[in-house]
Amino acid sequence: MRIVLVLNGPNLSRLGTRQPDIYGTATIEELAAACAATAAELDLAVDFRQTDDEAELLAWVHEAADRRLPIVLNPAAFTHYSYALTDALAARTAPLVEVHLSNPAARETFRHRSVVAAVADGTVAGFGFLSYQLALRAVAALLAG
Ligand code: DQA
Repeated sequence: MRIVLVLNGPNLSRLGTRQPDIYGTATIEELAAACAATAAELDLAVDFRQTDDEAELLAWVHEAADRRLPIVLNPAAFTHYSYALTDALAARTAPLVEVHLSNPAARETFRHRSVVAAVADGTVAGFGFLSYQLALRAVAALLAG
């Protein structure tokens, strides 16, 4: 069964209590469970991770490149400024889908620019947990060719 890395950047461990008006009241554990359920429907296995540490996130992206693993990535605030993350993702060896729970285009100006989007296969934003579930479907389709 193909493994998909579902990687989450800073502050996403705080889901459930962090700005619930924007991100909802469900927790990251519930998000991980929703991803695992969708992946199972698609004959995929999810390796779900979160970090607040840019270096750790880069190490996971390098690991994905070495292992040819697809990535569903919510870079959180790194989306908007991490060229190190862009560079790491540019060396990817498998599909990459960027996801956001909220719709950054409808929020503050600093969220309108993603430095990740240009190196991703596509982006799903604005649908809460469904963004991740749609992204997993996109990965399955990309893997199927
Ligand atoms: C986010 C949107 C980002 O702008 C923000 O910094 C986040 C979460 C989202 O999932 O909507 O931390 O990536």
